[in-house]
Amino acid sequence: MKVLVINGPNINFLGIREPQIYGSETYENMLEKIRAHAHKIGIEVSFYQSNHEGDLVDAIQGAYFDKIDFIVINPAAYTHTSIAILDALKSVGIPTVEVHLSAVEKREDFRQVSYVRMYAEKTITGKGIDGYIEALDYLKEKENESRN
Ligand code: DQA
Repeated sequence: MKVLVINGPNINFLGIREPQIYGSETYENMLEKIRAHAHKIGIEVSFYQSNHEGDLVDAIQGAYFDKIDFIVINPAAYTHTSIAILDALKSVGIPTVEVHLSAVEKREDFRQVSYVRMYAEKTITGKGIDGYIEALDYLKEKENESRN
């Protein structure tokens, strides 16, 4: 079971950017935690981060050729603006979980729109790095159920 975890703009600045909102752990720490959990539950995980919308589209299209089973995506600010990312997910047809570190639903009005949510089968918000862990657990469970 192959999962690609995609992160959008400024997520590479975790630990530096607004720690009161996004926490003090670095992006590298976060990857380590996700990697360790994936290993524990038997998921082959890979990561992609970019600050550029088109590169995120390319990564989603790449997931199709790499035969990725599931995508976990935090499109960051592009969540609220990017039809291109929504269309890319629809194009590849890979089941997707949307994750946000912060509780976007309790924040500014402009964060209330999510284009990706129109495609994602599940959205997890406000749980920090644990949100990604929860996404992996959800996908593993789903995979187990489909086998039974
Ligand atoms: C975010 C929420 C977005 O509104 C914001 O632009 C981000 C991060 C989150 O993980 O909470 O960059 O996606």
